Amino acid sequence: MDEAQVYAAIGEDGFVRLVGAFYRQVPGDDILGPMYPPAELAGAESRLRDFLVGRFGGPAHYIERRGHPRLRMRHAPFTITPAARDRWLHLMTRALDEVQLTPTADAVLRAFFADVSTMMINHP
Ligand code: HEM
Repeated sequence: MDEAQVYAAIGEDGFVRLVGAFYRQVPGDDILGPMYPPAELAGAESRLRDFLVGRFGGPAHYIERRGHPRLRMRHAPFTITPAARDRWLHLMTRALDEVQLTPTADAVLRAFFADVSTMMINHP
């Protein structure tokens, strides 16, 4: 499956469920929780969801609202150690396990998250 076909396969609803399942775990997480002020959580959830929808073939709401993603630059204010990356990926893996997308969409997303989360590491 091409990355642009993921949205066609799982729709807005797939991304809403996935990102919802991810962010439900964040406030209680000892590494990631403190990085997200409670007042920002709903906004953070919609930014990640909009980004993924656009990245995988859906409407370009993220770019319309936020401009070019430049994700590494946008993560520069946060200390992202290998342990923080591993935790982020762990929570996202649990979210994928929970929401049960189509097998190919699931595989494409797992590979993407593993790669991009590694790229976000900016601290030893
Ligand atoms: C590797 C571990 C990661 C950590 C610790 C982390 C943490 C954060 C934090 C604290 C924010 C600010 C929340 C907000 O938007 O208000 C953020 C924003 C964001 N993150 Fe991550 N992130 C990680 C990986 C990723 C990955 C892998 C992706 C993409 C698949 C991603 C996509 C985004 C997006 C789209 C935003 C919003 C950027 C903006 O428009 O300002 N992040 N992240």
